[in-house]
Amino acid sequence: MSSTSPAERSLVLIKPDAVRRGLVGEILSRFERKGLRVEAMETRTLDGDFADQHYAEHVDKPFYPPLKAFMTSGPLVALVLSGDQVIEVVRGMIGSTDGRKAAAGTIRGDLSLSNRENLVHASDSTDSAKREIGLWFPELG
Ligand code: CMP
Repeated sequence: MSSTSPAERSLVLIKPDAVRRGLVGEILSRFERKGLRVEAMETRTLDGDFADQHYAEHVDKPFYPPLKAFMTSGPLVALVLSGDQVIEVVRGMIGSTDGRKAAAGTIRGDLSLSNRENLVHASDSTDSAKREIGLWFPELG
């Protein structure tokens, strides 16, 4: 990366289960201690239409109706994180989708026992980061 390129960015959601369980500080501090930068942070409660837009690729999947109910069940914290290779770095830090199978040391591996209530969402590619940041924080476009 040249010194003039902006750092890579990722859209990260600290999901309603993490807020209910009082884990926002724990999760945020892991990202901060890693050296990632918080570019934006806001608490939001989603409505169904916004959940459908965020999870556009999943709306027809059998697991989507309960996922939608979960994601709209209470406040979450939306973040834009930046840093060198932030998308891959954050995906590694959160661990695989199913908290029962995620590696120890990852956020899900240490703190979740569910493949739905898995505490955190993070963009999985530069294309999805661009789309998700445009949806959640259009002012950062
Ligand atoms: P996330 O990284 O936000 O991306 C899609 C979400 O769907 C995922 O985290 C889980 O919360 C949920 N999910 C994915 N697969 C399943 C599944 N098989 N059963 C229930 N929820 C799932």
